[in-house]
Amino acid sequence: MAADRRQALRAEVLRREIERHNRLYYAGDAPEITDLEYDRLLRELSDLERRHPELLSADSPTQRVGAAPLAAFAEVRHRTPMLSLGNALDEQEARAFDRRVREALGEEGVEYVAEPKFDGLAISLRYRDGLFVQGATRGDGAAGEDVTSNLRTVRSIPLSLPRGADTADLEVRGEVLMYREAFERLNARQRQAGGKEFANPRNAAAGGLRQLDSRITARRPLRFFAYGVGDAGLTGCATHAQVLDRLEAVGFPVCAERATLLGIDGLLRYYAQIGARRERLPYAIDGVVYKVNRLDWQQRLGFVSRAPRFAIAHKYPAEEQVTEVLGIDLQVGRTGALTPVARLKPVSVGGVTVTNATLHNEEELRRKDVRVGDTVVVRRAGDVIPEIVSVRAQARRAGARPFHLPRQCPICGSAVVRGEDEAIARCSGGLYCPAQRKQALLHFAGRRAMDIDGLGDKLVDQLVERDLVRTPADLFGLATAQLAGLERMAQKSAENLLAALERAKRTRLDRFIFALGIRNVGEGTARDLAHHFGGLERLMQADESALQAAPDVGPIVARSIRQFFGEPHNLEVIRKLREAGLAWEESGPAPARPAGTARVFVLTGTLEHLSRDQAKALIERHGHKVAGSVSKQTDYVVAGAQAGSKLARARALGIAVLDEQGLIELLEGHTHP
Ligand code: IVH
Repeated sequence: MAADRRQALRAEVLRREIERHNRLYYAGDAPEITDLEYDRLLRELSDLERRHPELLSADSPTQRVGAAPLAAFAEVRHRTPMLSLGNALDEQEARAFDRRVREALGEEGVEYVAEPKFDGLAISLRYRDGLFVQGATRGDGAAGEDVTSNLRTVRSIPLSLPRGADTADLEVRGEVLMYREAFERLNARQRQAGGKEFANPRNAAAGGLRQLDSRITARRPLRFFAYGVGDAGLTGCATHAQVLDRLEAVGFPVCAERATLLGIDGLLRYYAQIGARRERLPYAIDGVVYKVNRLDWQQRLGFVSRAPRFAIAHKYPAEEQVTEVLGIDLQVGRTGALTPVARLKPVSVGGVTVTNATLHNEEELRRKDVRVGDTVVVRRAGDVIPEIVSVRAQARRAGARPFHLPRQCPICGSAVVRGEDEAIARCSGGLYCPAQRKQALLHFAGRRAMDIDGLGDKLVDQLVERDLVRTPADLFGLATAQLAGLERMAQKSAENLLAALERAKRTRLDRFIFALGIRNVGEGTARDLAHHFGGLERLMQADESALQAAPDVGPIVARSIRQFFGEPHNLEVIRKLREAGLAWEESGPAPARPAGTARVFVLTGTLEHLSRDQAKALIERHGHKVAGSVSKQTDYVVAGAQAGSKLARARALGIAVLDEQGLIELLEGHTHP
């Protein structure tokens, strides 16, 4: 059935509305409606068009979903060639450009428009009677490929223009690109689907633009920015700035970072400002472009060979370069983390010579499969540390072998360990490894550990650098004479330090356990372990299941404790510490309750007499457990004042709730703590 007037009108209104929202979203970056509302409008229009095909027009936004695949792209001859730009690689060359312009024009101060140089693909868009009719790639500059159906899917490209004498017949030129965020999302999607990842947004945009099947292009989040006009249109403009403003007014996205500036100093300031913000722009740029503002002056300046004399690209240092992997080293961090680092043939990237690139961890190394001798793409963006982006697999030498992490720490020979769910491999010789020495000493001496007054980082630096101290055990062998020779160490402070060391020898088991710096064993866990095992020997002998019987010790903590005490280097240091006279009181292990009689308590709110720690200790002394959150496994919730959600949850689950008095009665059978 043919559409009636009302339906035809509705289709027209919908088309205009949808395109207006496109402009608001892409050109103005100020959407008025949600994605959902937008989709609803689009669906209404496509329903109408399906029922009444005669309503369908080439400029309908429903056509942005892509069309049937092409066999090949047709050729498009550019009526005015699409030229390239000359480059200025440094300030001198930018100044030389301005000088040439001024001399050729015979003018003193010249006004320029500066814009970012987008790192995308140049395209040309042709409008006839205000309708988008043809889009082409730059190709060799003289002729490109007809990618009209692909460009129709790019929502920031207007399919129709408001009526106006200057826009009826118009050729707009600009750049197709992909926002960095959209690129990351696309790559994540590709990764999930097991597809190929793109090296950078430019490649991803190029891949999208060159699809014969425009339905694929429609799924690539491409964007467009206009930066000029070709042979036709915009007759009323006298300057490039006016051209850009007019393009923006009729619905093209034009870069908001553009500026009109006077003379070379203005340009250089712009270059520095954009350069400082380069990393924060949503799209990649590789420079800025300077264009003489007056169009009559542009004409007068004309062209040399294939580039205009009136414009130039002032480039930023490239952020990516190709180089060779000379070796793969391992760095051991202060906490024992092993980081593979690629040693590179020196190359200048982003204005700095790069000789190393981190490979982060074993997984990353495996994923990128970097091998010695490989040709790699290195990236250094802003202040970010250099990274290997990809390996040129086709350039790999025959016989290049995959890299494996060693089983022994390259610094101290202790075992290298890696948790199942951890990306990072570590040296387990925490107390012994020179790479971890300073960190281990500072932690050992800390207030909550051995509390050695006066042993701060300046002093630790000196002690380690002069090789006076290698492990915490060496601290207790220091003599006044050795200390007095150090910077900022008078006789008196040396004596004070020795006194503090002497005092530290009498300690508590929980402090000592904490001081060892076992991974995943904080102060609280150290206290629980001391309480549960009562003595160091029992703790050192405990296997993983015995460890997990301690409160709040799960498989991960149990494993790191085993790894620590499994490393002979650490045991040697502990032996020496005890020889040096470190001592603490030990108690028997916590009484084991008959199987099945241990109960699980959860504490919440403020109790009247007992602190949280005291209450916990009391419960554990009776062989019960304290958990952090209420679950079906909870037997009792002990609630004090200001008890919150845990109490509510206990009630909801029907768990017995006690107050302080109730707790004491239950455990000890009397009423006062
Ligand atoms: S103007 C006559 N402005 O740079 C030259 N080009 O080497 C007209 N480009 O592939 C070009 N951003 O796609 C101009 N703001 C900008 C640009 C820009 C990127 C690209 C352009 C072309 C290359 C020229």
